[in-house]
Amino acid sequence: MILPPDFINYTKAMLGSEWDSFLNSLSSVSPVSIRFNNKTTVKKHFEQVKWCSQGVYLNKRPSFTFDPLFHAGCYYVQEASSMFLEQVVRQLIETPVTALDLCAAPGGKSTHLSQILPNGSLLISNEFVRSRAFVLAENIQKWGNANNMVSNNAPKDFSTFNGMFDFILIDAPCSGEGMFRKDSDAIGEWSRKNVDMCAERQKEIVQQVWNSLKENGLLVYSTCTYNQEENEKNIDWITKNFNAEILHLRIENTWGIVENDYGYRFFPHKTKGEGFFISVLRKKEACNQLKIKQKPSQKAKIDLNNILQDKEMFEVIQNNSFYYAVPKNHIEQILFLQKQLNVIHMGIPLYEQKGKDLIPQAGLALSKYFTRTSFPTCNLNYNDAIAFLQKEAIWCDAPTKGFVAVCYNDIPLGWVKHLGNRCNNLYPAEWRIRSKNIQREALCLLDI
Ligand SMILES: C[S@@+](CC[C@H](N)C(=O)[O-])C[C@H]1O[C@@H](n2cnc3c(N)ncnc32)[C@H](O)[C@@H]1O
Repeated sequence: MILPPDFINYTKAMLGSEWDSFLNSLSSVSPVSIRFNNKTTVKKHFEQVKWCSQGVYLNKRPSFTFDPLFHAGCYYVQEASSMFLEQVVRQLIETPVTALDLCAAPGGKSTHLSQILPNGSLLISNEFVRSRAFVLAENIQKWGNANNMVSNNAPKDFSTFNGMFDFILIDAPCSGEGMFRKDSDAIGEWSRKNVDMCAERQKEIVQQVWNSLKENGLLVYSTCTYNQEENEKNIDWITKNFNAEILHLRIENTWGIVENDYGYRFFPHKTKGEGFFISVLRKKEACNQLKIKQKPSQKAKIDLNNILQDKEMFEVIQNNSFYYAVPKNHIEQILFLQKQLNVIHMGIPLYEQKGKDLIPQAGLALSKYFTRTSFPTCNLNYNDAIAFLQKEAIWCDAPTKGFVAVCYNDIPLGWVKHLGNRCNNLYPAEWRIRSKNIQREALCLLDI
């Protein structure tokens, strides 16, 4: 690995006597880690990520693309250090919150948050870059929780939502030094100038959303880089420019995490994961909270009786020709945000209206609330499951014509329409596996 000389000089000065072991760790193989969804029960034994209840390490990197359960949202492939976010939530959040994950794609931290925030919370996952926002929406749907909306907006679009959020995560776009081991492109893109540019952009992002954080609300700031400009110096800047208090978390010595006055640092020679920085601040200034009064214009006529469990928790709303079930306890906020933002996903996507037909959406089959008995189901073998995910024509046995939820190991993947002599594959074209290779053997990560 050839590192930029400016990076070496800066980081060597910062790490002092630890430089050699840090450098050695950059030439070792990156640990592979995944985080399980509570959609499934995992029977196999794995080495645990110490700061994350559902995070585990694998011995090697399999071809996740060819595991149908990966596409079913049974687990998310996530770098272990980032899973430390769980400690923030477990140690500091006790009651339901309205949360914003501002820089959320591809969705590692959002899928995690949607699972660990207290029941009754609402999570808005936003991504600035349009193509990445759609990947985020796909991952959120596969994860299958209903407490989530996805928007594609710039940070400044949140600046007028005074005091709306109890919790804001800014997992900031950064110079990516912590990813050098995993992603050699990050080395080529690095320069001192880029570090300074990132640090300025990060301040701008904080400034643009600060107003939308409630008094006593939490701002979590993180990067995957080592330099102080994008980390400690930015946290210092926040405390000097806004009224904010830095909070501390309980950590175990054995985790190898380095704590300083500003936050928590993860170095690959000390923790089993990539480079990461995270800091938690509490807003200590009063702000006039935005008053939202928004009622659904008309009740959508969709019967949730058979298709969703806990149906009383949801209200159905219509967006163009699409119907979504969204959490009733946040309906006013959801309708308000739907008007103000470019919302590309919310709650549970149910149906698309096409003429007189209601076409069930992939997000319904993938939802944790989907009532499996409401539609015929068909369990596919491994090769057919991969063919389905490649959006190829497949055949499945079903007692009647119509929509069939196709599953792998009893976990829903999506829909086909059974026409009697053939089946239409309804898997979203943009989600399909593009590679035409096929593994000979199924990946059995989850012995389920
Ligand atoms: C570190 S990544 C987020 C990773 C994500 N939180 C996760 O856990 O999967 C930072 C994100 O910020 C987005 N981004 C890029 N420029 C931005 C800007 N000017 N404002 C806000 N976000 C930006 C990137 O597209 C990227 O998706």
